[in-house]
Amino acid sequence: MHDQLKAGDLIEVAGPSGAFTFTGAEADSVVLIGGGVGITPLMAAIRYLSAIAWPGQIYLVYGAQTTEQFIFRDELEYLQRRMNNLHVAATMVRAAGTSWMGSEGQITAEFLTQAVPDLTRRRVHLCGPPCMMDALRKTLIGLGVPRVQIKTEAFGPARGAVPPPGKVAAEAQMPATEASNQGAATVGPATATIRFATSDRVVALPPDKSVLEVAEGAGVSIDYSCRVGVCGVCKTHLLQGNVTMEVQDALTADDKGNGLILACQARSVGDLVVEA
Ligand code: FES
Repeated sequence: MHDQLKAGDLIEVAGPSGAFTFTGAEADSVVLIGGGVGITPLMAAIRYLSAIAWPGQIYLVYGAQTTEQFIFRDELEYLQRRMNNLHVAATMVRAAGTSWMGSEGQITAEFLTQAVPDLTRRRVHLCGPPCMMDALRKTLIGLGVPRVQIKTEAFGPARGAVPPPGKVAAEAQMPATEASNQGAATVGPATATIRFATSDRVVALPPDKSVLEVAEGAGVSIDYSCRVGVCGVCKTHLLQGNVTMEVQDALTADDKGNGLILACQARSVGDLVVEA
């Protein structure tokens, strides 16, 4: 935006999207675990729960590299004084030479269990860099937290990332080998086709390309935002056929029941008909 936009340009914007939300109705307590800037969506939840004076217990477990990178620290200290149901446990990977008097190191199983009583019975929201999320998801499952209680939000390129139009996989920070391996798992003869029912177009459907990529190549418009399966903007009706999706975080049970797929994730080795 800084390089390209100038006063008077028209830009298209979309409202917030995604399924990584907590309104207080989903559970009677919540554990919010964030790493680095991954605290951002968790703060949105904390601010909202503060605004509605939600009575449940809120445990924020936060990890950052240094105290300088402890985002929202002042606001959290302020909120903690106002909300006796907000419990904050933070740890800095490198605190040496700073005024930090708290924990040092990564978020570990021990740190989690000390910060959150009865962890296994609480709903957990987890947001941070992909490597941290993978490690903590395993830690939580190892501690006995049911998978269904763990909600995650990836930021930055993650598994399931589909490169934007005109970019190759490597430019979208997904290793090319990983990109081709994803296709290789399902590769069959490239004889499948996809019919875009609304646009009345039929084109070839390579097994390593998502429905969204094929639509873009065919000039068929499907809205998108994240291209990693979490925002839900690319939800499209599947009218015929079967697809696999690397990530489907943005689909609810109702969506699946109604035949919706995430176009940015959906791939198939068979013929498809989609509404687009
Ligand atoms: S573009 Fe976000 S889920 Fe597909």
